Amino acid sequence: MKRIGVLTSGGDAPGMNAAIRAIVRTAIYMDMEIFGIERGFNGLIDGDISQMNRRDVGDIVHRGGTILKTARSESFLTDQGFARAINILESFRIEGLIVIGGNGSLSGALKLAKAGVKVIGIPGTIDNDLGYTDYTIGFDTAVNTALSAIGNIRDTSHSHDRTTIVEVMGRHCGDIAICTAIGGGAEIALIPEQPFDIDEVCRKLIEAKHRGKMSSIIIKAEGANIASQTLADLIIERTGVDAKVVILGYIQRGGSPTVRDRILASTLGFEAVKLLKNDIFNRAVGVTGDQVIHLELEEALAVEKDRLIALADLVDVFSI
Ligand code: F6P
Repeated sequence: MKRIGVLTSGGDAPGMNAAIRAIVRTAIYMDMEIFGIERGFNGLIDGDISQMNRRDVGDIVHRGGTILKTARSESFLTDQGFARAINILESFRIEGLIVIGGNGSLSGALKLAKAGVKVIGIPGTIDNDLGYTDYTIGFDTAVNTALSAIGNIRDTSHSHDRTTIVEVMGRHCGDIAICTAIGGGAEIALIPEQPFDIDEVCRKLIEAKHRGKMSSIIIKAEGANIASQTLADLIIERTGVDAKVVILGYIQRGGSPTVRDRILASTLGFEAVKLLKNDIFNRAVGVTGDQVIHLELEEALAVEKDRLIALADLVDVFSI
């Protein structure tokens, strides 16, 4: 394979730039031409494609966001948009495509694969919601960003004998919430994968108060089954404990990637290009333990996501 393309899609994630850099430099090192596609699948449909050279990816390994920009493409989901994307790839004579993104983006890659395009998927999302890989690019940075906020919140929560509900990202996956809760010493983690029970939350807060614990941190994933302000109101009403809400929001998606994310992104970027160079395609790359792995894209997307949920129970143990 001689001409390949790369795009970033879905929500941005710290480390996407490190992956782009690795892909561009590896491709050139392996004597291939590499094309950057802007704004995810939208750029593919619109033909926003240009050849990249080694200097285009200078000074980006440490930067959050994605120099290729990203989007959640509505047009790609239409027959017309999808057909255009295929035509554009053909007219640019792009033989292999690397898609960096989360669940939805890799599903888009699979759709292309089924239409005959040679693709490789790289997991890039802060949510860590892909079951086939231990970690996705951006997750480690997002949790560290949340943790640095928790440090500040803890100080003021303690001074005011307050419960603070910190809402972190994760529409369908509680991994950011679980790891932030354990790493930040929170009392309770609420995640989309587990049923929410207001009585249990209030009981835990009252018991903690009886044990002399006057302030608490609750980490709530955005997808957990109750709105953060409603939860705060119910806590105040039922326990008499003051409760405030902090929504961390997009802060978690920006910032300089941690070394863990830079290395993950760089090794996965290298692996993706190596596979295409060897004419191996329709695979998703990822990691288990320290091992870089790759498996059929369809198989990868079918793997159930449950690896870190068991850790949710530890939040209870550590908050006694
Ligand atoms: O990147 C994943 C994610 O951060 C989710 O946790 C969140 O719900 C979503 O993206 C929101 O992103 P946007 O508003 O950019 O679509």
